[in-house]
Amino acid sequence: MRRDRIVKPKVIVTRRWPTEVEDRLTAEFDTRLNETDQPYDRRELRAALEEADAVLPTVTDKISADMLEGGIRAKILGNFGVGFNHIDTAAATKVGLVVTNTPGVLTDATADLAMTLLLMCARRAGEGERELRAGKWTGWRPTHLCGSHVTGKTVGIIGMGRIGQAVARRCHFGFGMDVVFFDSHSIAGLDVPARQLPSVDDVLATADFVSLHCPGGGENYHLIDDDRLACMKWSAFLINTARGDVVDEHALVRALETRRIAGAGLDVFEGEPRVPGRLAERQDVVLLPHLGSATKETRVAMGMRVIENLKAFFSGRSPPDAVC
Ligand code: DGY
Repeated sequence: MRRDRIVKPKVIVTRRWPTEVEDRLTAEFDTRLNETDQPYDRRELRAALEEADAVLPTVTDKISADMLEGGIRAKILGNFGVGFNHIDTAAATKVGLVVTNTPGVLTDATADLAMTLLLMCARRAGEGERELRAGKWTGWRPTHLCGSHVTGKTVGIIGMGRIGQAVARRCHFGFGMDVVFFDSHSIAGLDVPARQLPSVDDVLATADFVSLHCPGGGENYHLIDDDRLACMKWSAFLINTARGDVVDEHALVRALETRRIAGAGLDVFEGEPRVPGRLAERQDVVLLPHLGSATKETRVAMGMRVIENLKAFFSGRSPPDAVC
């Protein structure tokens, strides 16, 4: 009996993924992994788009309009991550390229990291850790590294999507904080007491801790600039686990240097992995290397979600997480 050979879609993965996800991808598709884990340069990315039916990028792969021009084989980009401002989705739509992301599965991990930064800022934990490791701790004393209380304070959330809401729940139910927020949409059916304010400036003026949870790029590019930082309380902290370009880092340095705000906790940067030296040298700043979704469980769930989207697409169904 003659059996038709099933041709599996060709898939190119731009970075190393957790082993169980790579194994599953390899079983389901004709998969090319990136054994070196070095980010592809523009030429390699373009070649991947020409060679594969699906390319699976991450936040480190900038896919601009010019890379999609002139004929490509790829029909779908399965982005490993929820944020997709590194992909020109308008250009993708023009060439009929579907883009998917991984919403939902990284909500708790990212909200936890926002809380980590908030608490580290409030309690000067970064300063304390650096002091101790440097052998400079001279012992307990009543005035040593006193930070700010969080209970009873107000958190201001910019962008009340899944992650913003998860942060609101943690702040309110876990730490007894009041919650105010700005979102360009009216948000109904919240399961946490929270007050929606009419503008970003209102949130900045009210909050003791401002936590950013809006997408990067577009209208949010440098949303937090000199003027916005000037709206904040002098005693307030800025927390960013969203995208680096939401904050004008030079304006932030100015605000910190002039003691216009009390400090910042940053997991994302505009020119990652570069971090401005004037931020890195400050004691009132906590810096993390884009760890928002970095739990083993979450990274596996993200990979599996990409696979679900690919399977739907290649069997003729709409991928559940298509963003364009
Ligand atoms: C996300 O999922 O958006 C993370 O920041 C990694 O891109």
